[in-house]
Parts: sequence; structure tokens; C-alpha cells
Amino acid sequence: MPIRFYEEEKLFKLDTPGSTAVLQIYDEGYLLGLYYGAPIPDMHFDNFTFRDYFASFCPRNENLRDRFFSPDVFPIEYSGFGTGDFRPAAVAIRNADGNDCTDFRYESYVIRPGKPKLEGLPATYVTDERDAETLEITMLDRTTGAAAILSYTVFETESVIARSVRIENRSERPMDIEKVSSVSLNLPDADYDFIHLWGRWAAERNLQRTPLRHGQQSVSSVRGSSSHFHNPFAALARRGADEDHGEVYGVNLVYSGNFDITVDVDSYETLRLNAGIAPAGFLWHLLPGESFQTPEAVTVFTTDGLGEMSRIFHRLYLHNLIRGRYKTERRPVLINAWEGCFFDFDDEKMVSFAARAAEMGFEMLVMDDGWFGHRDGDDSSLGDWFVYKDKIRGGLGPMIERIRALGLKFGIWFEPEMISPDSKLYQAHPDWCLRVPGRPNSIARNQYVLDMTREDVRDNIFEQMRKILSENDIAYVKWDFNRNLTEAGSACLPAERGEEIFHRFVLGTYSLLERLLAEFPDLLIEGCSGGGGRFDPGMLYYTPQIWTSDNTDPIERLAIQFGTSLCYPASAMGAHVAKCPRTGYETKGNIALWGTFGCELDPNTLTEEEKTIIRGQVADYHRFYDLLHYGDLYRVTTPFENAFRCAWEMVSPDKREMLFTNVTMRFSHNRKYIVRFKGLNPALTYRLEETGEEFSGAFLMNAGLNLGCYPFGDGESFRLYFTADR
Ligand code: GLA
Repeated sequence: MPIRFYEEEKLFKLDTPGSTAVLQIYDEGYLLGLYYGAPIPDMHFDNFTFRDYFASFCPRNENLRDRFFSPDVFPIEYSGFGTGDFRPAAVAIRNADGNDCTDFRYESYVIRPGKPKLEGLPATYVTDERDAETLEITMLDRTTGAAAILSYTVFETESVIARSVRIENRSERPMDIEKVSSVSLNLPDADYDFIHLWGRWAAERNLQRTPLRHGQQSVSSVRGSSSHFHNPFAALARRGADEDHGEVYGVNLVYSGNFDITVDVDSYETLRLNAGIAPAGFLWHLLPGESFQTPEAVTVFTTDGLGEMSRIFHRLYLHNLIRGRYKTERRPVLINAWEGCFFDFDDEKMVSFAARAAEMGFEMLVMDDGWFGHRDGDDSSLGDWFVYKDKIRGGLGPMIERIRALGLKFGIWFEPEMISPDSKLYQAHPDWCLRVPGRPNSIARNQYVLDMTREDVRDNIFEQMRKILSENDIAYVKWDFNRNLTEAGSACLPAERGEEIFHRFVLGTYSLLERLLAEFPDLLIEGCSGGGGRFDPGMLYYTPQIWTSDNTDPIERLAIQFGTSLCYPASAMGAHVAKCPRTGYETKGNIALWGTFGCELDPNTLTEEEKTIIRGQVADYHRFYDLLHYGDLYRVTTPFENAFRCAWEMVSPDKREMLFTNVTMRFSHNRKYIVRFKGLNPALTYRLEETGEEFSGAFLMNAGLNLGCYPFGDGESFRLYFTADR
């Protein structure tokens, strides 16, 4: 079994195919995180080194015989605030006496097959109980009666531990959770680089790598959503670790709201990483008998570099996070009308888009923003989810019928969590948006945010959406979210629960998504937030694809897609061919083929030649669908390291197929370009489709090919397709 408890040593050992974690119940019930790293098959548990000296100014627990023990220097697995560990606490709870001293000690454990659901929250799952095992350790603060149930799930096939924590109030008095991490990781040295993904609107998920230093480094969001600005992801990579080699720890929160990931390096060069809901703006009032469930944190460990870390995340999300019909079924190739017409359209234009798109092989037309209320710009009608009859003159039904008759499915845009001041909904319910007493509401993109914590608000939006979706033949919804939260208050929350608003908002959104999917299980939902402003595993649980960025410039897309690929699979990245003239259509298509391929333009404006190219790309997408969606990604040359070109491979799980794509971002006179391919089977013979030449996998990976003969002008690109006989 992957999880074992050794009674005598009081040790838990968690084994994944690529990692081992060891926890120990120490004297006085302290739980120590002794080890997390490369697999250790043997049992020399006595020799685990942690600091065996008592440092000055480190407090002691007088009950302990071990006078060297201090909670301040030992690897406390889930450390509380104010009780002897001065490093950043994993958890802090303010008790009814008015202090926030928190100290959890071991009570009991249970190991169970499978993986329990997390109430109200997205999380990784298994469909067969034999595919995972879960350890739950109950910790208790014996002074306050707070309990923390630490949960660890080990998957049979991947080097992943999924972790979360449930806090229970087992006392007779209320308490307030000030901070609660989903994972707290202690490592005995700090010789790592901190890697994270930062960005902004239209420039999401740039990779940054900096050496750890003493003190704290963190990434966070207090915007009410995971945001464009930081992704809820961080990695610790051994100095010198690269794409293909070296130890890497990856942490990704399955959460779409405020988060914080902090790494602290203390004065003894040990490190602690805490990840979870951002403590800023968070205070959860917990009554006797109540419990609080944290979001899940997925931790990955590998000795094979960042590339393998990404592939582990990808496989886990493909098989154990994404759900529903489109987990396995092919997704329709879509054309989205937004960049082709913005708000300027009517039913005739939509049908004409569909007619041209059908000629190129597209399978679905998505009508974006502007079909509802009286929306002619971004300044009205959010919340009024009924058809704008001046635009869609005969109503949705007849227009969709005409589009269906052309052989296309139909998709539609919603922004369910928002409300325009200029809307019927706002006139009827001005109290339904987030606001705080005595303060004017900030406006962003001319809109306010609905109070998703309220059931009546969610019911109203659900009923409006249900009407549209049940009365019409709609296969797809683009679920947008175009601003962040300010003046976040709810008319329905009492003052002592005021700071629960951010998390309750996210729970409200999740419950609306869940309800919609329960009612329309075949619906494909694509997530979106001004492009990729809410691109996280939490949303992926409901929306198997997410619009990666509003930036459709193909060259700028490269960095965005490379960064996104650090943890998210290709099938999750909405990637469209658009009008941006920076490159020709071949290159636009080659870049869009990395994700869920689609198109975002007015097809009436395309020349015959452009249409022919796009028709070929749609066909290629079908041809390579399985390879692109379920294959393993190898980043060969990344735009974060090379200003001139970038390249990536998709390799089929059986290693008999490989598609290599290269894009020249900037011309260089250096025609020598030797690529040593990755991820192949050295013993197989591969045939390069374009030339018919044959090479062994060993040759391709070790000697490589000089690709200097292929197109290398500004914005040019090429693909190489290799196959090995079956
Ligand atoms: C956001 C999305 C776009 C488009 C517009 C519509 O910016 O990212 O793709 O849907 O909203 O207003």
C-alpha cells in the first residue's frame, strides 16, 4: 500500500511512484514533516537529520525530555501561531479568550481507500477507489478545542500528493480562523530557486525564477479571483535544475479566489512553504460544532526537472480533475465571433459567420458578448439574460436553427457573476451587488459584482440561464468574469462574518457552476476572465477549457502559452487563430494548435487562400487531436530563455508519435540550429513524414537534427511529424 503507519517508530510513510513523504508523531504529540523528496525504499528512519542542537532564543516545551527540541527549529508539519514556532504559521485561530495562540498535537489517524470529496469545493478525484489512498491525521489544540484534520491523498500512478485541511470547532465557544493553509511544507535546506507565474491583462503567466533568500518570498491575490497577476502556483527548483533534470517541487492550489503562497527561509537555512487562502481579508467565524474546509493543494515532486513536473500536473488534471462528457469526447472546433465583430452584430451576421465557418470545417459558432438586454457596448445589461430583440430579431431559436442547419453547434456567452448599473436587474435589486455601508462602489468596466454569497441571487441567475439553455439548442457556454472585487460586503452577512465574503463568493460561484452542470451535464463550459484572469485548477474542475488570454497576437501568445503550460495541459488552453497581422496564417495556426484550437475573426473577411490554410488547420486539429490533447508536452526552446525562436513537442503516451513545432520570433543570421529531441524511445525507428527519412530515437535524442534549413524568417514556423511503426 502507498501509505503505511509504522507503529513502533510512530511514522507515516507515503510513497508515490516518484516521491516519498515521511511524517512522525514526536513526543507530546508534535507532528513532524521529516521528509518529502525522492523515493526512499528503505527504513532508516532513525537517521533523519534535523537540527540536533538547541538554538538561543528558541522556546522549549518544558514537558519534553528532549531538551534540544524546540518547535521553532523542528519541522512542525502544521504549525500554529504564537506557541513557540516563530516561522510563518500554517494556521492561526483566535479563540474566545481573545488570543490567537494555536497549537495542534496529534490525536488519531485513519487510512482509507480512494479519496473523499471536498464539500462544496473542486478537487482532484478518482473513479476507482484502488487508484488512490487517503491518510487523515486528526490534530487537536487541547486548550481551545480546535481540531485540524490533515488530509493526504497519494495517487497510484503519479508523483502527486493532494492535501487539504478541515478545521473543526470541538469546543463550546465560537472561534475565528485568521489563517489556514492548505499545505505547509518544511524542507531541511533552502538551496532552491523560487519559480512563479506573474502577469497582467493580455500578458498572463510569465515565468519568473529567482534564488531563494533569507526572509519571505510570496505570490498572492486579494482581488477576489486567482487573477491575471499571479497564478496560484509556485515551484521550488534545485539550483541548476532545468527542464529535464533536477529536483523540483510544484504546488498548485485548486482554488479560484484570494490565495497566498509564501516561502520562508529562516536563519538556519531551512525553508517552509505555506499555501492556501490569503490571510489578508479573511476571518472565518466558527461556531461550536462547525467545520471549515480548505481548498486542496496539489504537490508534485520530481527529480526530472520542470518539464516532468508539468507533465505530472497535466496528466493529473486530464485524468483526475477535469470532468464530464468532454473529458474524453472530442471538443467541437469553434469559431468565436468576438474579435470579428465585437458588439456590432445581428442574427444575419451570426448566420453568415456560421456559413463561412462551415466551409472551413468548423463545428461550432460561439456568439459572444452583446446578445442580451440592450447591450451595444460594455456599459449595460449584465444581469438581464434575455435576448436583445433588436439584434437577434426572430429570437434565439430560429437563428440557432439556421446555424444548426449549416451543420454547426451553437455556443453563447454569459457573465453570470456581474451586474450593470444600467440593467433591469439592478433597478429591481440594487442591493444584490457587493457593497459596504457608507462607501460608494468602485466601478470597473462599467459594472458591479453580484453578491454570489446569496442564494436568492444565485437562484435568479440560474433560472435566467436555465431558461435560455433549456429553450434553445446550446452546446457551449463561455463563462466570463471581467473585473475584480472591491467594497466586498454582503447585505446578508452579519458584521462578525464580514471577512468571510471573499471565500463565500467563490463558494457561491462554484455552487452555481455545479448546479448548472447538474442540470445540463452535456454542456461544455469554457472559463474566461478578461482572457486568462481565472486560469486555475478550481475552474478547470467545472470548465475543461479556459480562454488563455485576450492577447491573440501569435508571437505574444507564445510566452503566455509556455507559461500556462507549466501546470495546465494543452487541452485546457483556449487558443484561436485571429486577425492580428504579425505573422501569416500558417504560424497563427501552428501556435493555436497547441491548445483547444479555434478561430476568432470575421470569416467573411478572409481571402480564399487564407480560408484554404485554415481549412487545413481544422483538418490537422482533427488528425492530431489525441496527440495534442492526451500527449506529453516537452518544451524544447522557451521564449523566456531565447529571444529568437521557441519550440515544443507533443509525444504520444506510447512514444510512437511526435509532433514538433518551431516558431521564429525574430530572425537571426545564425542558421545553425541543432535540436536534440526529447521524450522518444531510443530503440524505435522514427520516420519523418515531411521527408520520409528514418532515424532511431537514440539518434534524434542524442545527435539531433540541424534544422537550419527550415523557414526561419520573422514570424515563420514549421512542424515536423515523426512516427514509429506500430
Ligand atoms: C472578455 C473576454 C473576451 C470577450 C469579452 C466580451 O474580455 O476575455 O474574450 O468575451 O470579454 O466582452
